Formats: sequence, structure tokens, C-alpha cells
Amino acid sequence: MKLLALPSILLLIGILLSVPSCTKEYIEDINGVCFERDVLPVFVSNCTQSGCHNSIEKKEGYDLSSYESIIKRGIIPGNYKGSTIYQSIATSFGENSMPPPPHNRLSSEQVTNIALWIDQGAHNTVCTATACDTTNISFTTDILPILGAYCNGCHSGSAPSGSLDLTTYNSVKISADNKGLVGSITYASGYKPMPDGGSKLPACQIAKIQAWVNAGTPNN
Ligand code: HEC
Repeated sequence: MKLLALPSILLLIGILLSVPSCTKEYIEDINGVCFERDVLPVFVSNCTQSGCHNSIEKKEGYDLSSYESIIKRGIIPGNYKGSTIYQSIATSFGENSMPPPPHNRLSSEQVTNIALWIDQGAHNTVCTATACDTTNISFTTDILPILGAYCNGCHSGSAPSGSLDLTTYNSVKISADNKGLVGSITYASGYKPMPDGGSKLPACQIAKIQAWVNAGTPNN
């Protein structure tokens, strides 16, 4: 009995250690992809516009607005190449290529993150929060990437939602000055909650945008 006990304890520890986490790697994953931060906002921002893959219209049966609905169709955990959702965002031609024109294609980083997430088992992963640093916020390195991940699927291109483009300093500053930017992401009364149809931004992202606005919207 004693001889058996040690190997089974080691086996148990091995199983516990192999529980999927953000750092589990199958293909090269430098930053540790997490669903909540790197995948969900990309789907909500780029795919759930009116007439598309939201919880009401579910175009072609796809609802890309939440974890539960995303994994229902077109995702084969562990096999990104066989997943139709991956195939559509990775192909730039043909009728299954998504998002269709005139919408912008996903960036290669976004496509890679989605491949990694599927490859790692398509789990509902949340990244461990690092301390939120809201000092010396830069428009270029802090604010633009947040808007790029959470907003620009709708607020960019030739016909941006609400006629509001959020890809340049000047247009973002107008939205900051008229209070719409902070009002919408903090769900303040009198403003339409943003991202439209998605969940509230993580607290750190909201705090960074507020800090940048409070600092006088510097173009830095
Ligand atoms: C899925 C599409 C979608 C996403 C993603 C999205 N928006 Fe919007 N947004 C809209 C639409 C549509 C409107 C116009 C709403 C209306 O006029 O009823 C709008 C309007 C707005 C307005 C004007 C609202 C007001 O009450 O003045 C602001 C500001 C805004 N969005 C900011 C953002 C920000 C910031 C993000 C990212 C954190 C974001 N949006 C993400 C679709 C989106």
C-alpha cells in the first residue's frame, strides 16, 4: 500500500498542476492569452453590430456576444484550424471571410490570439490582474489600444456607429470633451452604455481613460 501511495500522490499533483491557466502553452504564446481580455472584446467590437452576430439576430446561427454563446458554434477546442470561426477571420477572400467589407479585417495579433485561445482549449479564462497603473497615461500607448480592442470594430471605417470615429486623437478628444467618452463607458445616466451590446470595460481600462481625460486629454 505504501508503495502505491507515493505515485498516486504525484499523479494527483500532476493533474492539479495541469489545470489550464493563462500561461499554458501549446504554440508560442508570449503574453499569455486570456479570453476575457484578448478574445471577447474582439468579437463584441467586430462582430456584434446590428444585423450581425449579436444575441438578437444571431446571423447564420452565430451569437458572438458572450462566452457561452461563442463556444456553441464554430469553435472546436484544441483545433483552431478546424474551427469555422477561425477559418473565417483568417481568410481574406470568399463569402465566408469575416468581417465582410466595408468592415476592417481583424489585425494579425487579434487573429493569432483567437487561434491561441482555441488551441489552449477555448476556456473562459480571466487574466490575473496586475496592479492598475494610471500615472502618466499616454494617448498612443494606453488609450488607442483600449479603443482598438473594445470600440473600433464599430467606431471606425467609412460609416462608423453613431457617426463617431475613435481612431484618431482629434475625434477621440471631441468625444472626451463632450463627456460622451467617459459617460458611455461608466454607464452614466444620459449616455448610451458602451461597448454597445457588450459588457462593461474592465475597471482598469475605465480608470486609465478617466485619468487621461482628467489630465486634460494630452496628445502624447
Ligand atoms: C458593437 C458596436 C459598438 C461597439 C463595440 C461600441 N460602440 Fe459606441 N456606439 C455604437 C452605436 C450603434 C452607437 C450609436 C447609438 C445611438 O445613437 O443610439 C454608439 C454611440 C457611441 C457614443 C455616443 C453615445 C452617446 O450617448 O453620446 C459614444 C461616446 C460611444 N459610442 C463610445 C464607445 C466606446 C468608448 C466604445 C468602446 C469602449 C464603444 N462605443 C464601443 C456601437 C458600438
